[in-house]
Amino acid sequence: MIYARIAGTGSFLPEKVVTNKDLEKLIDTTDEWIQERTGIKRRHIVADDETTSSIGLEAAKRAMSDAGVGPKDIDLIVVGTATPDKIFPSTACIIQRQLGVKNSPAFDVHAACSGFVYGLDLANRYIQTGGAKTVLVIGAETLSRITNWDDRSTAVLFGDGAGCVVLQSSDEPGILATHIHADGQYEELLHVPNGISVGFDQTRAGRSYIEMNGNAVFRRAVAAFDNIARETIADLDGDLGDIDWFVPHQANMRIIKAAAKKLGMPMERVIATVDEHANTSGASIPLALDLAVRDGRIKRGDTLMFAAFGAGFTWGSAMVKY
Ligand code: ACO
Repeated sequence: MIYARIAGTGSFLPEKVVTNKDLEKLIDTTDEWIQERTGIKRRHIVADDETTSSIGLEAAKRAMSDAGVGPKDIDLIVVGTATPDKIFPSTACIIQRQLGVKNSPAFDVHAACSGFVYGLDLANRYIQTGGAKTVLVIGAETLSRITNWDDRSTAVLFGDGAGCVVLQSSDEPGILATHIHADGQYEELLHVPNGISVGFDQTRAGRSYIEMNGNAVFRRAVAAFDNIARETIADLDGDLGDIDWFVPHQANMRIIKAAAKKLGMPMERVIATVDEHANTSGASIPLALDLAVRDGRIKRGDTLMFAAFGAGFTWGSAMVKY
């Protein structure tokens, strides 16, 4: 049996930090409201000369160094992002060039906040079927570029960042199970109304930013995590005690707590970075993973559970022996 194993992790956060207090000066909000409703304290925001590919590149370099692999070893690059540098080429192709990787396939997966888990599912299948041996799965986002900084209902929620895992084929168990899903019927609850093909016409003028019905999204997110919990319990024959660490998408501390409760996971075994990073969409899981690996909480041999939910709606999970 061929497994896909996480051989290394890396992450990168832009230097600029925007605190809730900074936002108080821009919009009608308070640090207290933001922390109480979301758990967020601060977020990192890219500089004018930084892009999704430039921060994704740094995360990839760190993950490759951690795994001890070089450009010649990489035979697939998958980037989960909803904020690509350009319409084309893909962010994955831009990163491929900067890394000096030659001839590997490279493409983006667009599943909003579930992009990393979707990418992991795909890369796992490539490795298990012998299509690739060493794969970069990157989650990278510059959500600040599609955030309306005048809209207090969304401006407080998002941040920028990137994370990456190097997946390698192995005889030893690595990714144990993945599940990905989508339900397209709620498009308008969380979307960017303007776009390439729908256009940027007068009726949608100014609507090139994230628009969200927060309450409805909250309810759908909790329902999706319920679905994930049921699938996971079935995978484990009911023994959730096998999971050492729950690494959820970092959207909102209240959603994370509700999801952990469904899984019966005490908060001491949940990796939560939403306070420091806000919601970095497809980057949030690999960022949180790398942070917990670096600070020594996640160790080799631990069983991890990733769970994501995002626009689409999309959702998914992965169970991984680290
Ligand atoms: N500061 C102060 N007050 C605010 C702010 C703010 N930043 N934003 C909204 N309010 C006000 C509202 O205007 C409203 O006032 P009103 O009662 O006078 O009308 C009041 O606060 C309550 O607003 P609600 O929207 O009901 O607040 P809620 O408790 O639902 O929290 C939130 C809003 C945080 C957005 C919540 O709904 C949520 O977290 N939803 C899920 C969002 C999410 O996770 N999205 C991403 C998931 S997918 C992905 O990651 C892309």
